[in-house]
Amino acid sequence: MSSAHLLLLLLPLLSLFLLLRPTSAILCHPEDKAVLLRIKSALNNPYLLASWNPDVDCCHWYCLKCHYKTHRVISLFFLASDLPGQIPSAIGDLTYLHDLTLHKLSNFSGPIPKSFTKLKYLNHLTLSWLNLTGPIPSFLGQLKNLTYLNLSFNKFTGGIPDFISTIPGLGYVGLDRNQLTGKIPASLANLKGNNLYLILSHNRLSGELPATFDGIDFGELDLSRNMLQGDASLLFGRSKSTQSIDISRNLFEFDLSNVEVNESLTWLDINHNKIYGSIPTAVAGLELQLLNVSYNRLCGEIPVGGKMQSFSYESYIHNRCLCGAPLDSCK
Ligand SMILES: *[C@@H]1O[C@H](CO)[C@@H](O)[C@H](O)[C@H]1NC(C)=O
Ligand SMILES: *[C@@H]1O[C@H](CO)[C@@H](O)[C@H](O)[C@H]1NC(C)=O
Ligand SMILES: *[C@@H]1O[C@H](CO)[C@@H](O)[C@H](O)[C@H]1NC(C)=O
Ligand SMILES: *[C@@H]1O[C@H](CO)[C@@H](O)[C@H](O)[C@H]1NC(C)=O
Ligand SMILES: *[C@@H]1O[C@H](CO)[C@@H](O)[C@H](O)[C@H]1NC(C)=O
Ligand SMILES: *[C@@H]1O[C@H](CO)[C@@H](O)[C@H](O)[C@H]1NC(C)=O
Repeated sequence: MSSAHLLLLLLPLLSLFLLLRPTSAILCHPEDKAVLLRIKSALNNPYLLASWNPDVDCCHWYCLKCHYKTHRVISLFFLASDLPGQIPSAIGDLTYLHDLTLHKLSNFSGPIPKSFTKLKYLNHLTLSWLNLTGPIPSFLGQLKNLTYLNLSFNKFTGGIPDFISTIPGLGYVGLDRNQLTGKIPASLANLKGNNLYLILSHNRLSGELPATFDGIDFGELDLSRNMLQGDASLLFGRSKSTQSIDISRNLFEFDLSNVEVNESLTWLDINHNKIYGSIPTAVAGLELQLLNVSYNRLCGEIPVGGKMQSFSYESYIHNRCLCGAPLDSCK
């Protein structure tokens, strides 16, 4: 066969290949491209967005992801960078976003633009380490598809907003490291996601826990470093599948003796409270990775067995009359 024949034979195959070749297609949606370029210009063409070159398909730009089929921009992430300026309101015009992460951007500031309410498909929202101030805006409650909300390491003030419990699938709520005040609202017990994560540590929350928390089964609960008081025994229960409870450095005051625990609990930190009574024997039956009951008002013998004696004395020190290994033996 001559090479001309071969070429004739291969030509249809070659053209088919060219047609289907994915890189030859323009993937970027023109509307998204226009919005992205507006964001870039609102931020004064920062170095972080140097790859956002109009001559290159925008689905190949850094700091974003397109959907594999629709090619709409579904993910935008600006991480740990020097990005002075304000959160561009044009971000709200990337209406197909599922995931938006703005994290640790020095000199980047708020407010959170109202235009974010247009992000109807948003599942994951992280706005962390941004020094955002003022109350957490209630319009975020319009983001009904959120499953994950992380607003940690900002300077939000005011109370925990009630809208949080109106987002039906919200399963992770991280409001830690802010300056939030007031009581934990009873409405938070309406959160319905399974394996709920509620992280409220390092704020200025006060008052007692809402009684509604009795009926709620958290996956992970971190209320540490607040000024919460009263009874926290309602967080525990034989049938609750909670894996992690951290209520350390608060003013909780309750009897630990009759608290019931479930075998799923692997992390228990209650240090620096005013908790009294004794450590229930059932705690020795848990597969604990961490136990810290130090700086409370506990008494009695540390239950023997399980992991109990593998923790250092620092997990138990500074109680009223706790005794037994790893502390001094009981008299
Ligand atoms: C937040 O503010 C503090 C001082 O108030 C500053 O040191 C820090 O760099 C700021 N962080 C960001 C991400 O702007
Ligand atoms: C950060 O912002 C402040 C106030 O807007 C400004 O004075 C300062 O120069 C900025 N710093 C940097 C590194 O951009
Ligand atoms: C919200 O999420 C559901 C399920 O993930 C999806 O079917 C729906 O299209 C999403 N978007 C809106 C606007 O509700
Ligand atoms: C939420 O954000 C904080 C800091 O920005 C981070 O430390 C934490 O891991 C985040 N939570 C999750 C579950 O990703
Ligand atoms: C622990 O909790 C799980 C989930 O609620 C439950 O199925 C299991 O029976 C509980 N264990 C005990 C000993 O009650
Ligand atoms: C328990 O908490 C105390 C007080 O914060 C701390 O000093 C100690 O190191 C902690 N122990 C462990 C094992 O984490």
